[in-house]
Amino acid sequence: MSSTETKVTPPDSKNWLPHGGSHDLVTFEPRNYGDWRDEFHKNGCVVIKNVISPERAQYYREKQIQWLKNFELGFDENDESTWTEAHLPVSFKGGMYFAYGSPHEKMAWEARTEPAVINIFETLWETKELISSFDGMNISMPRRKDLRWSPWPHCDQNQRRKGMQAVQGLLNYAPNGPKDGGLMLMKGSSKLFDEFFAQKRESYNHEDAPPPEMEFMDLFLFNDKDVEWFKERGCELIKVNMEPGDFVLWDSRTMHYACLPEGDQIRHVQYICMTPKRFASPEALELKKQCFENYIGTTHWPHCNIRPTKEKPMRGDVVCPKDRSEPFEKPELTDTVLKLAGVKAY
Ligand SMILES: [Fe+2]
Repeated sequence: MSSTETKVTPPDSKNWLPHGGSHDLVTFEPRNYGDWRDEFHKNGCVVIKNVISPERAQYYREKQIQWLKNFELGFDENDESTWTEAHLPVSFKGGMYFAYGSPHEKMAWEARTEPAVINIFETLWETKELISSFDGMNISMPRRKDLRWSPWPHCDQNQRRKGMQAVQGLLNYAPNGPKDGGLMLMKGSSKLFDEFFAQKRESYNHEDAPPPEMEFMDLFLFNDKDVEWFKERGCELIKVNMEPGDFVLWDSRTMHYACLPEGDQIRHVQYICMTPKRFASPEALELKKQCFENYIGTTHWPHCNIRPTKEKPMRGDVVCPKDRSEPFEKPELTDTVLKLAGVKAY
């Protein structure tokens, strides 16, 4: 096996190149790593076990439950009759939270700065100089009766970006078996990204698709035929089962979606994504700084397409009266937090 150095190409000079010009940011030469990276580079996804302890996972579960209760909407984790929209803050797809300053809650930054979490991305990208996305969390109640939900297979990389440019992850806090909801992945689909998009493809007009004016530049929704296209080429749609403290990584070109829990267990997850700081332009870093200082979220992209999540949480046509622009618990501004936020130099 070769141990060739990782090649680095200078990043795009803009936050987003709207009309072409994207290219590989890193080329990973074939080599034998002798760790989880072998599986990751083969399949485009991998589960890494015991990244945090079960006790630490429980701490985060309790923090997330407390966060739901902080809204004082009558939510009670022990009373299923309160597991409804009226008693919960506004979420996307039944449990993803991006508003209310939640991407900058202390618990979110604590998760991002878990040494073993950072180590995953340092190992993957072979640098200690990383920046993090300001991504959301997922707290999903099982057996919700007030939800209209359908699968929404998608990938989070624009077809004009080629190669592996972002790798997403989630830190799992709760037991996550076959009935417990979780992450669905089309294993192997990242490898077919270029082939699939070699012809003109239209993003599926899913009922939950964000309107085009929201400009989610790195979102493509697949229709049923597209799903079959990948299966016919040997890809497998899998439900990722995990234990508290496990972490799953997937290449952003991978088709995926989150499915709702059907058993008894509440799903608890923090989405985490880090990429090398050198990928980010000064403009992207400036925009990130503004997001960080104002407790605004981004997509999962840490280094480009810094799209401030400014949408208000809506209850029908009305902004949620509990809307807020700051976390309940502000993060401690440690050196690590500031560096990962992109606001402090390495
Ligand atoms: Fe996604």
